[in-house]
Amino acid sequence: MSFGTRKRKPRQLARRMEKFEASGIRRVFDLAANVKDALDLSIGQPDFDAPEPIRRAAIEAIESGFNRYTVTQGIIELRARLRQKVVQETGQEPEAVLVTSGTAGGILLALLVLIEEGDEVLIPDPYFVMYKNLVALAGGTARFLDLYPHFRLRKEQLEAAITDRTKLLILNSPANPTGIAYTREELLAIAEVAEAHDLLVLSDEIYDHFIYDFPHESLFKFYRNTLLVGGFSKTYGIPGWRLGYVAGPRDLLDPMTMVQQFSYVCPNAPAQKAALLALDLDMRPYVEAYRRKRDIIYEGLKDCYDVVKPQGAFYMFPRCPKGTDEEFVHRAIERKLLVVPGGACSRRTTHFRLSFATSEVTLHKAVTILRELAGAEARPAQPNRDR
Ligand SMILES: Cc1ncc(COP(=O)(O)O)c(C=O)c1O
Repeated sequence: MSFGTRKRKPRQLARRMEKFEASGIRRVFDLAANVKDALDLSIGQPDFDAPEPIRRAAIEAIESGFNRYTVTQGIIELRARLRQKVVQETGQEPEAVLVTSGTAGGILLALLVLIEEGDEVLIPDPYFVMYKNLVALAGGTARFLDLYPHFRLRKEQLEAAITDRTKLLILNSPANPTGIAYTREELLAIAEVAEAHDLLVLSDEIYDHFIYDFPHESLFKFYRNTLLVGGFSKTYGIPGWRLGYVAGPRDLLDPMTMVQQFSYVCPNAPAQKAALLALDLDMRPYVEAYRRKRDIIYEGLKDCYDVVKPQGAFYMFPRCPKGTDEEFVHRAIERKLLVVPGGACSRRTTHFRLSFATSEVTLHKAVTILRELAGAEARPAQPNRDR
């Protein structure tokens, strides 16, 4: 019997995969793979490494033998510390806290225990790429709320979108890919509508530290029926460690814990130890550096692109000056600049996402190229450039 030479029938995948769409971001990476020395503004992770005390804590955990499974919910000290963080920041006591394998792990668990065929999930558009695919994987139907051109969800729009089939709203603030962040007043308005319809909201607050113009506010402060999802990847420069958390109603967190037990088993053990220490670190200098990056890119482009000023996260979502998003991205790649076509995170194909999670030198060079692509005048030399 030979090994694998027989012609096989095409593999029959599960029907749930039919609604799954390849990430447009991957497509750009594939296209850009051959571009040498590219200016990369396509990246969705911070450009800084984990601070030294966090790295040391993980190493110490490994060397002291903290390498076995932990309890499924996450170690008790970390859950207690996360509970304290939520209470400090919102004034509300969550019924339960679960440590997860990345924020993504928490979102997947929530959708798996909640959503079934026929259920609708409201997703403000533009959206983080994962949402619509995970809703599809869970068997639900995504209902998109078009937020162009200002990218903010208003209460009338939410009210009009809710039907008998609506099971969940996914809110993301500060947001990927637009960089908008909701104010207290906006969250109160959203909470009022959600309350009136007893609508569960998954509030993805992974960028809670990356906020530049006003303090971050969590929807959980104003609305109890919230699944607050947070993470460590972005804030502490550890996206590869896969650590996040969910705080909220026990009737959801209990079944989510059960699914975690039979899938991920537990979150990364040494990373949990390091996270405990991370929560006490002052990350403000890192955020300050990101505010400067935001200013460089926004000030550099605001006169020649139709763009909303990012208030948080590390993305900006300008309108392409002409043509489609894919055409614009191709023109950018010809100039060795990598950005993401807006269609990867929206049903519209008119915008593009850039990430300013890169060095100031790279951002200044990118501004020059993006201005040329928009047919704008070059800017006069900027003072205080770090090149
Ligand atoms: C809005 C948003 N949510 C969740 C995630 C997933 O993060 P994690 O690394 O914690 O799974 C990302 C990562 O890009 C994101 O941008």
